[in-house]
Amino acid sequence: MAKLNFGGTEENVVTREEFPLAKAQEVLKNEVVAVIGYGVQGPGQALNQKDNGINVIVGQRKGTKTWDKAVSDGFVPGETLFEIEEALEKGTVICYLLSDAAQIALWPTVKKHLTPGKALYFSHGFGITFNEQTGIIPPADVDVFLVAPKGSGTSLRRMFLQGRGLNSSYAIFQDATGNAFNRVIALGIAVGSGYLFETNFKKEVYSDLTGERGTLMGCIQGIFAAQYEVLRKNGHSPSESFNETVEELTQSLMPLVAENGMDWMYANCSTTAQRGALDWWKRFRDATKPVFEELYKSVATGVESQKSIDSNSKPDYREKLDAELKELRESEMWQTGKTVRSLRPENQVVEA
Ligand SMILES: NC(=O)c1ccc[n+]([C@@H]2O[C@H](COP(=O)([O-])OP(=O)(O)OC[C@H]3O[C@@H](n4cnc5c(N)ncnc54)[C@H](OP(=O)(O)O)[C@@H]3O)[C@@H](O)[C@H]2O)c1
Repeated sequence: MAKLNFGGTEENVVTREEFPLAKAQEVLKNEVVAVIGYGVQGPGQALNQKDNGINVIVGQRKGTKTWDKAVSDGFVPGETLFEIEEALEKGTVICYLLSDAAQIALWPTVKKHLTPGKALYFSHGFGITFNEQTGIIPPADVDVFLVAPKGSGTSLRRMFLQGRGLNSSYAIFQDATGNAFNRVIALGIAVGSGYLFETNFKKEVYSDLTGERGTLMGCIQGIFAAQYEVLRKNGHSPSESFNETVEELTQSLMPLVAENGMDWMYANCSTTAQRGALDWWKRFRDATKPVFEELYKSVATGVESQKSIDSNSKPDYREKLDAELKELRESEMWQTGKTVRSLRPENQVVEA
């Protein structure tokens, strides 16, 4: 483990240089890694581990589209693909990658198969941190840890295939075997992480819930909508409003930020844009900070987790979710987005 300095603060991180794949394979050579759930993270993590030479099996309920997907991805029923309970029995490392609500429902079954020395692996601190709400309390004689890739399972897989890696956090909640560190880092490397940074279960879930409700998803849609509506109200066309709000950001500016930071993106814009952005960013920070404070409090007091458990365990959860997503999809801004995307040169068939 290396100590790296991040803007003046030291952190424990593990890179692929200091913990190469060969070491991960050695640590995991006698393990059967059972990936339980084949939703979004499941495929990314299971396929990357398989391609990295790890002995991985998938546990998934049969007779579903998800089961068929696992088959078409190369998992073989009866050999590397099993009903959940059978996989739980065979696995020495249980990667618990069901949706957070399903993790609560299936917990009694999982617990039954957590015999001494096994490892229980999460990709989120949710179940353990909010155990009063989830009832997930593991036995004392198993290792409990997490590797949380900072992105979608789809990106984890895509980046792996491109020879890249998605950064992940890791945390150890319980080290029953004395080998939890090696196990968790080996798994982190095997699932295709870039570098791994240390956290704990509580910090992982607090930051994750804040991030997705905040700048990553909730806040960004909110500020997109606010700017788009102001532009439209002032007579700008949908095309102009969408391009100035979303398209330019995703297509031109964010790739520059990803490459070299915000200052570099600013430095590569016009002097007029630079002046305006430098004048306005602190006003936006100050306007939204109270909302972020309120959001963090709502996460830390368990309000957000309870809301998520309540809504995700309702039988009509899917229909309600689909209706809300439909509303977003059918909003003028995202309908415009659809047309704008179809007009990107790479999406157009041009006659030779
Ligand atoms: N989404 C991400 O990219 C992401 C990123 C970082 C961390 N994580 C974490 O990774 C974990 C997995 O998340 P995910 O998004 O991959 O989950 P997901 O796609 O919502 O998981 C769906 C899986 O759960 C199964 N499932 C749902 N309800 C079930 C039930 N009642 N009984 C049995 N199986 C059931 C589904 O099987 P069926 O198809 O048969 O319903 C499917 O295999 C979570 O802890 C999440 O917080 C996710």
